[in-house]
Amino acid sequence: MDTTTTPAASALRPLSTLPGPSGLPFIGNLLQLRPRKVHADVETIAQRYGPLFRMSVGRQPILVVTDTALISAVLRDRPDGFRRPSVTAEASDELGGERGVFLAEGTAWRNQRKMVMQAFAPHAIKAYFPLLARVGARLQARWLQAAQEGRSIALNADLKRYTVDVIAGLAFGEEVNTIEHGDDVVQQQLELIMEGMSRRSLIPFPYWRYVKLPFDRRLEAAVLAMREATNGFIAKARQRMQDDPSRAAKPQNMLEAMLAAADQEGSGIDQNAVIGNVSTMLLAGEDTTSSALSWLAWLLAQHPSALQRAQEEVRRVAPDPANFTIEQMDQLEFVDACAHEAMRLKPPAPFIPLQANRDCAVGDVQVPKDSVVWCVLRHDSVAESKLHNAAGFDPQRWLDSGNVRQLAMPFGSGPRLCPGRYLSLLEIKVAMACLLGRFDIDSVGGDSQEYHGFVMQPGALTMRLSPAAG
Ligand code: HEM
Repeated sequence: MDTTTTPAASALRPLSTLPGPSGLPFIGNLLQLRPRKVHADVETIAQRYGPLFRMSVGRQPILVVTDTALISAVLRDRPDGFRRPSVTAEASDELGGERGVFLAEGTAWRNQRKMVMQAFAPHAIKAYFPLLARVGARLQARWLQAAQEGRSIALNADLKRYTVDVIAGLAFGEEVNTIEHGDDVVQQQLELIMEGMSRRSLIPFPYWRYVKLPFDRRLEAAVLAMREATNGFIAKARQRMQDDPSRAAKPQNMLEAMLAAADQEGSGIDQNAVIGNVSTMLLAGEDTTSSALSWLAWLLAQHPSALQRAQEEVRRVAPDPANFTIEQMDQLEFVDACAHEAMRLKPPAPFIPLQANRDCAVGDVQVPKDSVVWCVLRHDSVAESKLHNAAGFDPQRWLDSGNVRQLAMPFGSGPRLCPGRYLSLLEIKVAMACLLGRFDIDSVGGDSQEYHGFVMQPGALTMRLSPAAG
């Protein structure tokens, strides 16, 4: 038996004997988990049962882990020891999706990860930066108009437009410009696919194999349309690279970087893997970053002293989007700390579900092959026993030499750590610099409850701004 930690085999507790909430025959604990509040429900149950407990959804046994050290050990033991749950990959396969790096496993994952990391290399991000700054300037112009007309801003919706424009530009080399032209078909399809994937990953009985509801038909059409659009983008990128072969060494966008990496001898990557990764970037990069930004704006509006310090930093370091540089963004240390603190309290991905590839042990618990291991990321990171003033919004803690960096893991950990983390922090800083450099925030209100879909995000928030004096 392989073990994630190594207590003597005889000291191991079988998963089935662990404490945990009692469930019903056939459906297990399903009724205790509200689909849109699943993260909060598991976190609440964890308060009662401690760092390791048992649940089940249908017949699927689940080990819930809240202890940071154990979670880190599980996350490190990939791709060999643990995989993403098969149900998610199967839901994608069934829809005809290609597995990108998020869902690939084993050798396919290793090859794809290498390709994707080349697309996120520092020089590649530097090449994308002007596009990011341009999209930020458009967002600022949109908000200036709202502020001058005294209108309130639909915060989450505008931030989604911003992240879609950035990601589509980076992923495809296409400026979709939903900020100025309204919703784009790509964005509508993405929303549907994200909703469909998270729904299907949680429903224990795959009814859609037998009966297709109108939602399933729309979902399937969206996946097909997305695939056609992606094929078109790839054909255009290939043509650009053929016309200008220097682009292989200096790719202008993520798609070109991936095609160049895939074309390298022995890359082990085919066209389908590139297709899978274009949609993966769109899916993984849109709602995560816009959710982080929405929560950050909401938290700053409630903490005037942090807001003032962030504003002062932006106005001193990076006052004008027309002249933004990547170096300026790197100097926004307090804004960066605010982003991390917001993600500690409101992580866009509050849990990571995995599945054991073999019989193993987590802590002192025996985990049979194929059990689901549910890693709760927001537990130790918000526990007063681990962190002073754990419930408070205190960005300074990220600038001090405390233990917060070990406790909060908003981007996961180990070999499958989010490859988009630097890019998303850059996006967050550009958007925040556009906001704080030009405006005073009068209020951020609306529905600040947490909802889980593809990621954890607030309900509809509205923001009111005044143009800053001077
Ligand atoms: C605030 C924004 C973001 C957050 C909080 C976030 C969070 C995460 C988390 C928790 C994981 C799982 C890590 C693990 O299993 O250990 C992940 C994986 C991933 N993320 Fe992000 N992410 C963000 C933005 C992005 C962006 C902007 C992109 C790309 C454009 C991206 C692409 C990916 C990919 C491709 C993976 C899969 C990596 C793999 O399995 O090897 N993410 N992200």
